[in-house]
Amino acid sequence: MDDNKFYVSYNSVHKLVKKLSKELIESGYDPDVIVAIGSGGYIPARIIKTFINRPIYAVGISYYGIDKKHKDHPTKIQWIDEVQSQLVGKKVLLIDEVDDTRATLAYCIGELLKYKPEEIAVLVLHNKNKEKDVEFPVEIKRYFAGLNLDDVWIKYPWDADDIDSHTEKENLMLDHLKKEGKELYQ
Ligand code: G4P
Ligand code: MG
Repeated sequence: MDDNKFYVSYNSVHKLVKKLSKELIESGYDPDVIVAIGSGGYIPARIIKTFINRPIYAVGISYYGIDKKHKDHPTKIQWIDEVQSQLVGKKVLLIDEVDDTRATLAYCIGELLKYKPEEIAVLVLHNKNKEKDVEFPVEIKRYFAGLNLDDVWIKYPWDADDIDSHTEKENLMLDHLKKEGKELYQ
C-alpha cells in the first residue's frame, strides 16, 4: 500500500455523499440552493442532487496555477452573474471535494457572503486534520465532512488515467485498513 496516498473510487464518493446527505437532512438544514466549487466539487454536487433535489450553481475557483504552483491567493476562474439575485436570503449548501488548507473554501465563502444569503453550510467529502491556513468566517455554523483524514494526498477517481487500476488500489488499501479493524464505508 502507498502510505502517502489515499485512493477514493467513484463508488466510495457516492457512498460518502449519501451518508453526508443523511447527516444534512437529520441536522434539519434544508438548503434552497447548492453551490459547487469547481472543479472538485462538481461531481459530489451532482450526486447530492440525487438525495436533496436543489438547483446547483457552479463557481470555479483555483488556488493553483497551470504550473501547479500556488498563486498568492485563490482566484475566480468562473463566477455566475445570476448568483447575486439567487443567493439573497437563501440557505446555501456549499460543496467542495476537500477541506485542505481551507484557503479556497474561506475565499469562496467570503465572496458568497457579499450576496447576503441567510446561511451558508459547508459540505466536503474529505477534511484533512491539520492546521488550516485560514479559518472559516464566524457566519459558518454548519460543517459536514464525509471522512476526516490525516494530511495525506487523496487520489480522486476523476483524476485517474486507468480507472480500473485506481479502483483496484482503493480495494487493496481498504483490505489493509480492514485488517487493522478500520471499516471506512458501510
Ligand atoms: P481548500 O480551501 O478546499 O482547503 O483548498 P486549498 O486551497 O487548500 O486547495 C488547493 C487545491 O488543492 C484545490 O484544487 C484542492 O482541490 C487541491 N487539493 C488539496 N488537497 C488535495 C488532495 O489531497 N488531493 C487532490 N487530488 N487535490 C487536493 P483546486 O485548485 O480547487 O482545483 P480542482 O482540482 O478542484 O479543480
Ligand atoms: Mg477543489
